[in-house]
Amino acid sequence: MSKRKSEISRRQFLEGTGAVLAVATAGPALNATSNATPPVADEVAAEVPTTSIRLVVNGVEHRVDVEDRWTLAELLRDHVGLTGTKIGCDRGECGACTVLLDGKPVYSCSNLAVWADGREVQTVEGLAHGDQLDPLQQAFVEHDGPQCGFCTSGQLMSAKGLLANNPHPTAHEVRAAMTGNICRCSNYNHYVEAVLAASVAKNGSGRSAASKKSITGVTAAKSSRSKTVATTGAGGAR
Ligand code: FES
Ligand code: FES
Repeated sequence: MSKRKSEISRRQFLEGTGAVLAVATAGPALNATSNATPPVADEVAAEVPTTSIRLVVNGVEHRVDVEDRWTLAELLRDHVGLTGTKIGCDRGECGACTVLLDGKPVYSCSNLAVWADGREVQTVEGLAHGDQLDPLQQAFVEHDGPQCGFCTSGQLMSAKGLLANNPHPTAHEVRAAMTGNICRCSNYNHYVEAVLAASVAKNGSGRSAASKKSITGVTAAKSSRSKTVATTGAGGAR
């Protein structure tokens, strides 16, 4: 008797479970039908967390409400207006986006903007003093460093970080320091020559770009373009 009662109970249990499963399975479908309207873009954007940060860029303090997903490159280019920093690969491979963060070269495409809170950033726009090129920029111009121009600002910043810590590097040390900066036109020897030349230039010896009309081995037109690239990173595509 007790066995039969037990079997009925088990059958009833299974039948009940099936009904519950059927309802549970149908539930999401019914809900999906009733909530078919996807969230609008504004609602999605409103959900993005933001953080208020303070950072110093090229000696100027900025207080910015940044979305936590922004990269440092996005912050610099799209919200501070410094487009000399370029985005090449956008995934930490080419070095075009290199800036100095507290004096250390970093890929700004691979650093979040919020990580720069309370820190100092230097970009290519911060190298020259008015019309006076940084000796490193001047050396890049004289040694025909900028080719495509897109990667030049990143190369300059890596070299700047190197010379700040090692004012008189060997050619091997220059190459090692700039292995993270890819140049598809293979202009590497010119970069190394430029950095070595800058390393022997004395502080404040950078020549006025305006007073230098002709540079040995470089046409006036080309040197003018090189100067622009080396100063602002403006080498073509924004
Ligand atoms: S754009 Fe950052 S490493 Fe290429
Ligand atoms: S100078 Fe830009 S890829 Fe070589």
